Amino acid sequence: MSGVTPPFPPRHRGEIPVTELLAKASRSLLEVWGEEMFRNSGTVLEVLGQQLVVFNRPAAIEAVLVTQAEDFAAKPAQLSKLLAPLIGEGLFLAEGPGWRQRRPAAKNAMASVLAGLDQAVAATATDWAARPDGATLDMIAAMERLSAGLLLRLIFGGVAGDPAEIVRLARAYRAKMSGAGLITLMALPEPLVRLRLGGDAKRIRGVVDPMLARARKAGLGLAAALPAEGVREEVISMFAIGHDALSGLLAAAWFLLGQAPEVEAALHAELDSGAEARPLLRAILREALRLYPPLPLIARVASRATEVAGRPLPRGSVAFVAPWLMHRHADHWEAPDEFRPARFLPEASPPAPFTYLPFGLGPRHCVGEAFTMRAAELALATLARRFRLLPLPGPGVTPSAGLTLFLADRLPMRLARR
Ligand code: HEM
Repeated sequence: MSGVTPPFPPRHRGEIPVTELLAKASRSLLEVWGEEMFRNSGTVLEVLGQQLVVFNRPAAIEAVLVTQAEDFAAKPAQLSKLLAPLIGEGLFLAEGPGWRQRRPAAKNAMASVLAGLDQAVAATATDWAARPDGATLDMIAAMERLSAGLLLRLIFGGVAGDPAEIVRLARAYRAKMSGAGLITLMALPEPLVRLRLGGDAKRIRGVVDPMLARARKAGLGLAAALPAEGVREEVISMFAIGHDALSGLLAAAWFLLGQAPEVEAALHAELDSGAEARPLLRAILREALRLYPPLPLIARVASRATEVAGRPLPRGSVAFVAPWLMHRHADHWEAPDEFRPARFLPEASPPAPFTYLPFGLGPRHCVGEAFTMRAAELALATLARRFRLLPLPGPGVTPSAGLTLFLADRLPMRLARR
């Protein structure tokens, strides 16, 4: 089914000078990977004398993220510097005993608050139903709003919060952390970064604090299910990671369906059948996560001198594992750049171990995975039952990435009732 090749950035061939590599990185972190890296096995890339190592062999990925995770417990200082003003000691950045203590609390809290998501999706359905048939919708903005609505439910139990305001704040912070801005910030000393991002972080705390107080009082959402200590940082951290990732997944799913009418028709048939099992719905989302992984790059620092897959790594080396690379690697996927959700149907053979990791792997894998899949399935099923989103002529999408992947600034599509 399908055979459509949705857009991806051009790939250079052969070695390129470091200056060119940095120029590419400042445009988009998806542009730094040369064609050979999607074909060959082995460890690649060493930049400016620092051991920045990209691992693209399954055995090495297993070592960094799973079997030797203790050696790679920390995230790079450049990443912490950017996120700490906003999420401080939240789980995503926490290390050592702090992380070990927070992780089970976050997992348990997540499992306890998955109710009420249908109301967030219903708000979008009502909004779309009120628009004229054939109206143009910017699906990036629409999915950001929906994602904010779903996360407000999860985190604050729906007692508080205006999705539009949250989207605006998230965009302001993100705007400073992409493209050339991201590279500049990475090069700046920490106090200057704090100065630059501190205002946005303060505004976000100002919006979050009253919502947090209300939700805790009402005993709702993650806000109430998490331990009181550090709860503010935790909910902001969950919003900061989850919001872009979930809206990116949803926008990618609609975009891909718009490119592949026969997949869309098969999805409609599955939804209309009323069957409880919806394997194609899940396969479409898994394939969207493969082609456009919202977190395309995972980074770790070696906390002691170690060895990975036979390669010695001094303490302080930065190890990268790139879902973007592994998900499109020719050794592990047939027609890797094509949209083929059938590869994730139950009758297909599962992906080779350590080649599919949209939610990361090992002890630090995403605590939001179950919520994300449930929310995305609910959103796509509810909305695709009633509406179609058709592609419009235009510049199309050019996926790019800072810390997260973006399909485009805008994605106009035509809304049609079914
Ligand atoms: C499409 C949606 C999502 C994707 C693709 C995604 C992806 C990831 C990945 C790749 C990691 C591992 C990072 C690493 O190893 O360095 C991660 C960790 C994490 N994610 Fe997600 N995520 C998504 C949604 C969410 C949501 C909705 C939440 C919260 C509501 C969330 C909360 C977290 C947290 C707290 C961590 C850190 C876990 C730890 O370090 O112990 N994520 N996510």
